[in-house]
Amino acid sequence: MGARPNLPKAAPVIRALDTAGMARTIVHTGQHYDDAMSASLIRALGMPEPDVNLGVGSGSHAQQTAAVLTAIEPVLIERSPALVVVYGDVNSTLAAALAAAKLGIPVAHVEAGLRSHDPAMPEEINRRLVDHLSTLRLVTSPDAWENLRTEGLADDGSIDVGNPMIDSLVHMQRDQDLDRRRADLLALLGIEADYLLATIHRPSNVDDLQQAGAVLRLLETLGARLPVVLPLHPRSQRTLGSAQTLPGVHVIEPLAYPDFLAMLAGARVVLTDSGGVQEETSFLGIPCVTVRSTTERPVTITLGTNRLSTLDDASAEIDAVLAAPRPDPAVIPLWDGRAGERIAAALTGWLDRRAAHD
Ligand code: UD1
Repeated sequence: MGARPNLPKAAPVIRALDTAGMARTIVHTGQHYDDAMSASLIRALGMPEPDVNLGVGSGSHAQQTAAVLTAIEPVLIERSPALVVVYGDVNSTLAAALAAAKLGIPVAHVEAGLRSHDPAMPEEINRRLVDHLSTLRLVTSPDAWENLRTEGLADDGSIDVGNPMIDSLVHMQRDQDLDRRRADLLALLGIEADYLLATIHRPSNVDDLQQAGAVLRLLETLGARLPVVLPLHPRSQRTLGSAQTLPGVHVIEPLAYPDFLAMLAGARVVLTDSGGVQEETSFLGIPCVTVRSTTERPVTITLGTNRLSTLDDASAEIDAVLAAPRPDPAVIPLWDGRAGERIAAALTGWLDRRAAHD
């Protein structure tokens, strides 16, 4: 694991593997290194500390991917695992999968088969390559199957397991007083009424000055309508930091994971370009407007509470949401808080069968 969204996916899997008594090594690549982006989540999720931290940090895509490739290879050689498990679609995922595959170590990919069909997204390149490098593809969303079929990957190596991100959400709902956390945060921000929660960090929305300008104009329009809370990803600081001067817009540091879920669960509407937030809002039944032209998670539109929008149309989309009755939480097959157990069972089952075969 390496970047923020990997952690809530990995936590339930590690917990289930530990319950099963499986020997394992946790490698953190260090792609994300700020406390708020990594260590704070590890604490909140009750995860064991990583056994190894590669400390790769930031860089261009090539630098970051190459740094993980180079740093993880000796760890894989030294520890000689029977299987390497990777999560999601970040640069760390691709690098770890590639290093393992080249050493002849089988790879299991959690979140297989998601496709945005947008080749300009770095994550799309990572996803495709990782699925083709993997021996086991653990499918978290029913709509992944069509993509796997198209790419000739809908075989015995692909297994339905459900969404481990939802396990972590359910775990936090059980373990933490989210209502209390939300009340404390809203009191701190001086917000008494309905609010919009926004998360924006995709390169396509924040790296380009013109696009970021359109995001700022949208936030200004929305801030005049209802309070906007924007926990700012480090990537967005340079171009969206000035949003803090906009009336009605509260720019804050990235939130601790349980605080973020608390704010998500209480939001009237969510504006995002994240992948995981589309899933979490659908599960919670919170309307979500995703400012992207594609999504690798279409099930959040067909069965969930999500809709795609351009930046120009987002204000009208949000008006439509505010005028409509609140949606019901989505019921998506196997998004039930037990994906970690199914993933651990798939991994141990595969290892047992291989041992019997050898
Ligand atoms: C990465 C993932 C993306 C995921 C996102 C979630 C890739 C290609 N992208 O994007 O899929 O949705 O994480 O957060 O892997 N930075 C810090 N502190 C940190 C981490 C990053 O200040 O702890 C800054 C760095 O200056 C860096 C920038 O944020 O240049 C972007 O970080 P990077 O790891 O390149 O990608 P993300 O945009 O976070």
